Amino acid sequence: MELIEMKDIKKDYFLGEMVVHALRGVDLTIEREEFVAIWGPSGSGKTTLLNLIGAIDEASSGQLFIEGEEVKKLSDDRRTELRNRAIGFIFQGFNLIPVLSALENVMLPLEIRGISFSDAKNRALGRLDEVGLSDFVRHRPDKLSGGQRQRVAIARALVTNPSLVIADEPTANLDSVTSHKIIELMRALNEKEKTTFIFSTHDPRLLDQVKRLVRLEDGRILDGGNEK
Ligand SMILES: Nc1ncnc2c1ncn2[C@@H]1O[C@H](COP(=O)(O)OP(=O)(O)O)[C@@H](O)[C@H]1O
Ligand SMILES: [Mg+2]
Repeated sequence: MELIEMKDIKKDYFLGEMVVHALRGVDLTIEREEFVAIWGPSGSGKTTLLNLIGAIDEASSGQLFIEGEEVKKLSDDRRTELRNRAIGFIFQGFNLIPVLSALENVMLPLEIRGISFSDAKNRALGRLDEVGLSDFVRHRPDKLSGGQRQRVAIARALVTNPSLVIADEPTANLDSVTSHKIIELMRALNEKEKTTFIFSTHDPRLLDQVKRLVRLEDGRILDGGNEK
């Protein structure tokens, strides 16, 4: 069974009298363990697409299946459960909590799930070690570089062991060396832990690091849609 299946997905936003057709009929299948880049210029619909895949927004029409379940037909509780269990998010701009240390930021998703402090701490330290931040666990975000903050966001997304990680422009505002390292880290986790990664980018410098490229323009898939 596919991890994600989209059939003729459309998404409109309504701004007063005006309608924005953000997605104009997207067919997209993503298998488990894939490493997929959604590539397109600003305004092409990348964030909209990722928010639908992550079940944090709803399509205007069409069908979206996650792990074989049609998202539209799930109860709110079931949808929240699916999101919490299966999906880790890396939002554009990191969304780290400024008053918390790197360690506390990464522990947070576990504490929300009711995992004990000591377990949460051990798991968070393990993830921070994996992303190369063992020496920075006590630092608050404002004491970290952009690349280090993005690593904290990755550790936080992974700490719950999701089967799918969704990352919206994970290398935005990073220099090219740091960007390459971030994508390399995601690839290594994809290989080692079989975590599926779907990330958006419009950075041509990253194209050679991608296994599968889905090109989006004006809310439509140009290529890369349904084959690996
Ligand atoms: N909440 C919203 N309300 C109205 N229009 C939106 C909203 N979010 C996105 N859009 C519009 O939808 C289109 C796709 O946006 P988005 O998915 O953010 O693209 P990208 O992430 O590729 O830059 C753009 O024209 C954008 O202005
Ligand atoms: Mg975007």
